[in-house]
Amino acid sequence: MSARVGGSNDVKEGHMRVFDVAGTNVNVANANGHLYGFDDTCTHMGCSLANGRLTGTVVTCACHGSQFDVTSGAVLRGPAERPVRSRTVQVKGDDLFIDA
Ligand code: FES
Repeated sequence: MSARVGGSNDVKEGHMRVFDVAGTNVNVANANGHLYGFDDTCTHMGCSLANGRLTGTVVTCACHGSQFDVTSGAVLRGPAERPVRSRTVQVKGDDLFIDA
């Protein structure tokens, strides 16, 4: 089931934004005009990935430098070992939906 979390233009290109989805912080990254959703909590020690840096489709955690592929949640560089959960993001008209 998906939930409406905001507007279709809420996340600008090259930026990330966190939305509350059923009590979980979900990050939506706009990479090259495409929106990708994933759980915002770094699997290393729990920092918010939104405080990190988005470069293309790679998010780098500000705490200890782990990198994740925003398109899949996969770990690209440790110290994190587990992927972040990927979420389906949909734009319907002016609305932004994320899978809960
Ligand atoms: S909490 Fe993200 S790399 Fe350590």
